[in-house]
Amino acid sequence: MASKILNMLGITAMMLFTFGCSQQGNKNTKMAPPSKYEKQIDSLISLMTLEEKTKLLHASSSFTSGGVERLHIPELTMSDGPHGVRMEHGRDWEFDNVTNDSATYLPTGITLASTWNKQLGYKYGTVLGSEANERGKDIILGPGVCIIRSPLNGRNFEYLAEDPYLAGEMAAGYIKGVQSQGIAACVKHYAANNQETKRGSVDAIVSERALQEIYLPAFGHAIKEGKVLSIMTAYNKVNGQYCAENQYLIDSVLHDQFDFKGLSMSDWGGVHSTKATLLHGVDIEMGTELADGTRKNPNYNDFFLANPLIKLVKEHPEYEKYVDEKVRRILYVMFSVHKFDNERPKGYRNTEEHHVLARKVAEEGIVLLKNENNILPLGDNVKTIAVIGDNATVKHAAQGGSSQVKAQYEVTPLEGIKKLLGDKYKIIYARGYEPNKKGTSSPKLIKEALAAARKADVVIYIGGWLHNLPGHVWDQYRFDAEGKDKAAYEFPYDQAGLIDQLAKIKPTVTVVFGGSFAKYDKWVDDSKAILFVGYPGMEGGTALAEIISGKANPSGKLTFTVAKELKDYPSHSIGEFPGDSTVEYKEGIFVGYRYFDTEGKETMFPFGHGLSYTTFDFGDVKMDKKEFSPSETVKFSIDVTNNGDYDGAEVVQVYVSDPSAKVKRPAKELKAFEKVFLKKGETKSVSFELNKDAFSYWDPETKAWTVDPGKFEILVGNSSADIRQKAEITIK
Ligand code: BGC
Repeated sequence: MASKILNMLGITAMMLFTFGCSQQGNKNTKMAPPSKYEKQIDSLISLMTLEEKTKLLHASSSFTSGGVERLHIPELTMSDGPHGVRMEHGRDWEFDNVTNDSATYLPTGITLASTWNKQLGYKYGTVLGSEANERGKDIILGPGVCIIRSPLNGRNFEYLAEDPYLAGEMAAGYIKGVQSQGIAACVKHYAANNQETKRGSVDAIVSERALQEIYLPAFGHAIKEGKVLSIMTAYNKVNGQYCAENQYLIDSVLHDQFDFKGLSMSDWGGVHSTKATLLHGVDIEMGTELADGTRKNPNYNDFFLANPLIKLVKEHPEYEKYVDEKVRRILYVMFSVHKFDNERPKGYRNTEEHHVLARKVAEEGIVLLKNENNILPLGDNVKTIAVIGDNATVKHAAQGGSSQVKAQYEVTPLEGIKKLLGDKYKIIYARGYEPNKKGTSSPKLIKEALAAARKADVVIYIGGWLHNLPGHVWDQYRFDAEGKDKAAYEFPYDQAGLIDQLAKIKPTVTVVFGGSFAKYDKWVDDSKAILFVGYPGMEGGTALAEIISGKANPSGKLTFTVAKELKDYPSHSIGEFPGDSTVEYKEGIFVGYRYFDTEGKETMFPFGHGLSYTTFDFGDVKMDKKEFSPSETVKFSIDVTNNGDYDGAEVVQVYVSDPSAKVKRPAKELKAFEKVFLKKGETKSVSFELNKDAFSYWDPETKAWTVDPGKFEILVGNSSADIRQKAEITIK
């Protein structure tokens, strides 16, 4: 009977045979428009009982949502995300402890975004999609696009930027890459999940303008430009309602404004009600934990969107239409990821190509913040290098929370430096400090480090943050980690003091790991060069050695403002961070450089900043005309010349300023960027097109995106604080 029905739907026995493991064929398939599957979806829904539909709406194991055997609808299989396919969980929460679940550990979100290279974002996604496919997954739980509102947020390392346009563009590339492999990406955590403290209950109080201009656009871009197939809601509440049942976020914005056709799922354990979630909440309730805290083999039929939902709909048959809408969106994703055909391309894992891409992203994502007297790349006068710091030997892949990856290997900085530079230089190592529960320094390790510095010509200090103490994954000694924010804007274990002492002995290059920087201190001035590497993935050590030696030329740019003090950040001085039962975003739209530039407040390193071993010259902004109607596209180009001694890459950043708006707007906002690769002496013309979005703001009165006619400035530079060229236009 079932096969007859499915035949009618055009689903053949051969297709059924491959449900859940459709990894055949080798062609690159494109995602289809929503209408393509409409008829098949309608027919399937018409065959399903309420009980069967409900199976699709909740988890059936730790990382699957239910299928319907009678109709050969398979389970959907998911995996974290966002920078590698996570090690295997069993159907319960425990790890499988198998040996064939290693993966390519890519640089984390913050390092990917620091490349400002959209094409690289796409390639990154293809690697992730291909590996997820090879591991039998349908959905990879990434990218994370929450805005970096405070440097203390424990998950900044997974996120992309303080700027919604940059985050959206990098996410869109990532998503298209993942989905080119027949796998769904899942953009998360929707929305305003900007702190980990009390993430399961805190209520983020955010104005509609700040939501629309700052916290939602990256999701909108992921949907409109990236065509993302799934979205995960955040644990927290926004303006009084849990995200998983938030009428404004899901009904008004996700479905009406963004016209999202894909599926939404809760974060694990993020659903709190049956009725509200059914009427205006997520499509799938994920999680492994029941209200009584049971995690091992919970009875998924007790979930809010399981038996309680069946009971509710039986009492209110008029609600079944909401069930159908959810099932429709889920089936749309299932068709799109080829659960009902053989069209998915073949997946691959841990190939050389994937590892090379991991290195490439690290190379382009490492940011050179300062380079006094061109100490980098290291010159011929250097004979002995003292590598100092715990992060020189730490492996980060398996740490940090749900984004953990069992890396096939991870080249640490010390290994990378020894392998690449060991023939040329004598390399000595001292640990310098040791992660410990008191957060203190160790006099013995300091002594050894200073002795090592004395024997060397240069110190490469490798420190900053780490995810957590090994063996203390879920306790308070976590920094860049899920479920916990950092307590201070200051490197632990008195690293500031150590760097300072080292810098007094020998020229010191400081390499900072982490999802954030740290407050201004003497070590910043005393270090001759500073590199911010984020978490650069399994080939991070190689990439770092290439940059130090000049084999690669740094081209990364900061995706967040580095302030001198914690209190300089508007989230801390004007708004609140972290909140407790509520967190008020009183700074509104003035986040990151939008605040620093508007207030003329000094920073340590501005948004968009990053040096190269070469220098670039920006020519005039060339445009054919200066007056436009709001519906016209503003087109212009600019010549960029590499006038230094190395081949290199520059990120041309285009900001728009609207001095005559009727509401207060930031001094400037990023609206376009392009990374351009130039041989020494080479000039290239870079073209840009800005549409109405680039000039609009969210008008709280009309509740719409609005352009106020008048004069606008187009500012072109290589950081928010280094504007090289300007052009004035008028929008009539
Ligand atoms: C995290 C998500 C993750 C999920 C599944 C949650 O705790 O917030 O980002 O995808 O767990 O592991």
